[in-house]
Amino acid sequence: MAKINKLKKYVVISRTLVLVIVIAAIIILMNMRKTGYDLGELPQRFLHEHVVSDFDPDVFEARRNNILASVEDADLIIVSSAARQDFRYITGFPERQGIAVITPGQEISYHLFVTPREIYTVMWTGEVYGLEGAVETFGADKAHALESFEEMLPGLLEGKNSIYLHDQDNNIRNLVRQSMDKAGGSAEIREIAPILHEHRVFKDDWEIAQLKQAADVTVKAHKFAMETVREGLKEYEVQAKVEYVFRRNGLGIGFPSIIGSGPNSCLLHHTRNDRRMQDGDLLLIDIGASSLGGYTADVTRTIPVNGRFSEEQKTIYELVLEAGDKALTKMKPGFKMLDSHHLAMEVLVNGLYDLGLIPDTTSWWQKRFFIQHRINHYIGLQVHDVGDYGYDTQNRNEHILTPEIRGREIKPGMVMTNEPGLYFMVGLLDGIHEMFGDLASPEELDAFVEQVRPIYEKYEGIGVRIEDDILITEDGNINLSEHAPKTVEEIERMMR
Ligand code: GLY
Ligand code: MN
Ligand code: MN
Repeated sequence: MAKINKLKKYVVISRTLVLVIVIAAIIILMNMRKTGYDLGELPQRFLHEHVVSDFDPDVFEARRNNILASVEDADLIIVSSAARQDFRYITGFPERQGIAVITPGQEISYHLFVTPREIYTVMWTGEVYGLEGAVETFGADKAHALESFEEMLPGLLEGKNSIYLHDQDNNIRNLVRQSMDKAGGSAEIREIAPILHEHRVFKDDWEIAQLKQAADVTVKAHKFAMETVREGLKEYEVQAKVEYVFRRNGLGIGFPSIIGSGPNSCLLHHTRNDRRMQDGDLLLIDIGASSLGGYTADVTRTIPVNGRFSEEQKTIYELVLEAGDKALTKMKPGFKMLDSHHLAMEVLVNGLYDLGLIPDTTSWWQKRFFIQHRINHYIGLQVHDVGDYGYDTQNRNEHILTPEIRGREIKPGMVMTNEPGLYFMVGLLDGIHEMFGDLASPEELDAFVEQVRPIYEKYEGIGVRIEDDILITEDGNINLSEHAPKTVEEIERMMR
């Protein structure tokens, strides 16, 4: 009897326990539904473990040594914060103002001129490293106050024959010239910028860690946006959400966020972000977090505001997706910079031909009507990072659709975007005479418009860009942003 009583008690206790757990679960779930993931909330999975440091003295010393090895003839190099990213690249010094002076072979070979730590400066502008920090944290052999640069310059120039300056340092260039004129010196002045920029093309391990983190957090922001977007929100509310994820994770905003819905998805650098999103819109989100060390990701996803791609949207989306996937197979050592781009263009042009949108694929202007940009640029300290591509980026038109222009060889350590896109801007067909009046006769253009318009109208207002950040490795590549949902199925699942 006692045994049965005990058993009964057990059953009652365990039933009560189950009931309590179920009720608790329901309350938690209801609460989640009620609050959604509105601003002010960030589920754990959108948070980052730790932020990588903004500085490592050894990395920067190695970098300066590498640069010196490329300019063996140099006996003086001066770079100031007028060349913001280049200055940061060689010093790591994050303040707004500073001058680096490198005098190879001398006992004191690395000078930093910085803002002194004075009490009123700190009070008004915030904490600075000062002279002490420049030596202790940033490894300068000697630090000086910025304002003593002019006075010290003649001494620094003395006996120097080969001086490297930066083309953005006009002020310093003038001071150097004046000083040399006075002293009757005859040193050669050379340009350091092209050398720095070539080094910046190849990212070291520390830079890669910075870019990985920037990409990770950018991916989180994309996922957060996918989970929380809905019709009726303004584009700037999506901007607030993604930038909130950046800041909550301790990172910065790498470039003005592009949040383009509906017809705005076709405006390549739309940053007004003030339209109210509607059911049936596509939403193009082109964003990049920047790491503490200043490295910027650049990742785009295009999603349907209501969570389901329409047939027309899907057609264009999958074409762009295929272009990017194919392009990635040529983003590795052994290929040249534009090989991937030209393959992507082939996919897009053939797809548009099949849809009846490019009647004549041998016509340059018919293709150019739909093709707006190349698919890759370097990323790094700048979103469109410096460095040579092996082709003339000024003459954009030519390389975009000329497969013979292939650019420089792809090598490990490069980090670049893979970003094909197609945009059916509202009213673009009406601008065709303005765009190509110099390349085709009015009759030809009118005939094209008449043939293409009924098809174009089906897609009008659809803009799709899919952008990933690709690190080139010895034997291929790593897609740093691969975890941002990308296929139609992945995106629709994430948005359910
Ligand atoms: N965010 C500008 C670009 O994709 O190049
Ligand atoms: Mn972008
Ligand atoms: Mn880009």
